[in-house]
Amino acid sequence: MNYFDNRPIGIFDSGVGGLSILRELQKDFANEDFIYIADTGRVPYGDKKPQDIADYTIECFEKLKKLNVKAAILACNASAPYCLDYIKKDFDFPTLGVIGAGVVDSAMVTQNKNILIMAATATAKSDVFQKAMHKIDSKVNLEIVACPDLVKSVEDGKGNEEEGYQAAKKYIDAYDGFDYDTVLLACTHLPFAKNSIEKLLKDKKKTSKIIDPAKSIASDLNRMLSGLGILSKEEGQKTSYYVTGDTEDFRNIASKLLDQDKDLLDIKDANEI
Ligand code: DGL
Repeated sequence: MNYFDNRPIGIFDSGVGGLSILRELQKDFANEDFIYIADTGRVPYGDKKPQDIADYTIECFEKLKKLNVKAAILACNASAPYCLDYIKKDFDFPTLGVIGAGVVDSAMVTQNKNILIMAATATAKSDVFQKAMHKIDSKVNLEIVACPDLVKSVEDGKGNEEEGYQAAKKYIDAYDGFDYDTVLLACTHLPFAKNSIEKLLKDKKKTSKIIDPAKSIASDLNRMLSGLGILSKEEGQKTSYYVTGDTEDFRNIASKLLDQDKDLLDIKDANEI
């Protein structure tokens, strides 16, 4: 067994959403290197067929394997129901999913046991959240709302602008009859629309708590890496980005979402891997 491993950690999402996890990891893991890979040429995954979602995700994981990652995060709730088990079994590096953290966090926060889950369409069509929640607390009532236009507004860098607010309103208004005290952001894009969601709930005079599981995912990763003895001992942190779509479009949106200088982002074409 290794007692340290200086290789990078891979983070996969269909688009810019996984950056909401990456920004948390960049705060917590000063000695780790990251490879962020996004299938921006084919985002969104939410409206795609399960088999296509699985194939595209696995293609990106093959690229992470070639890039020699020591571990990975499947930072896409829409992919998880269709291929996380396969990825865990078939790749020789450990992979962390992101669904468990959100389920645990929201189950701990809800008082009235009514949770509204905001997700991509493919996630909402699966029963992955119901199953995971049932294992923790079978008395919780879940409603899952698919929010494709909100995902799109984040991809356009407008999640916290009027476009994001109106998209959130369109979806959440339909649940006015459901007395939820907790809203789980079950799509990694949605923390980038959190201000819009917060404003909307305030306008509705609701005091529901919004759960962004990114911090808990960072803790889960720490537990996984230290449990396996593969934390890095090398000082310093480096992040490289690989995208299947236009690198300059990604540079503009990623620098805005991460609040980092766009000229300092190391972005490459994932199709060349
Ligand atoms: N960010 C992804 C998620 O966590 C999905 C967005 C999409 O591609 O539809 O579900």
